[in-house]
Amino acid sequence: MAKPQIYDVLHREHEEVSELFHQLEEAKGAEALELFARLKQKLVPHARAEEAVVYPRFLEEQNAADITREGIEEHKQVDNLIAELDAMTPDNDGVWKAKVKVLADMVGHHVDEEEGEMFPLAKQVVSDREAEQLAEDYARERDSFIEDIRADQRDAAE
Ligand SMILES: [Fe+2]
Ligand SMILES: [Fe+2]
Repeated sequence: MAKPQIYDVLHREHEEVSELFHQLEEAKGAEALELFARLKQKLVPHARAEEAVVYPRFLEEQNAADITREGIEEHKQVDNLIAELDAMTPDNDGVWKAKVKVLADMVGHHVDEEEGEMFPLAKQVVSDREAEQLAEDYARERDSFIEDIRADQRDAAE
């Protein structure tokens, strides 16, 4: 069986994030907070590992550099919105939910650009072998970010 390429790994995680956003749309109160926490655990290490491993490789290629730079800026907007949501709790006035909706739209747009523009451009220049190696490097980086977050949470809990 062929090894997974980076595009397959990222696509699977995009689907998981999209599913969590769907569940979050229906959720309220403590359940919404719990789903938001799970969403961040998926989304943040995904974005950091894309930036650390995948985007630097795509930036080397003239055809993919512009859309990748755009992706980096979109990650920053997503981070800002997550920080705003972290500073609030789900409430009755609906602002928290409205921000979650904007975040879902922003992430949806970003994923469409990655899968619809960035990955097809990268595929023109990145070899299959290299795309398999990127998948391995990405997974290692993502898991190490997840480990860092857990260690921070342990420290904070002490
Ligand atoms: Fe992504
Ligand atoms: Fe991304």
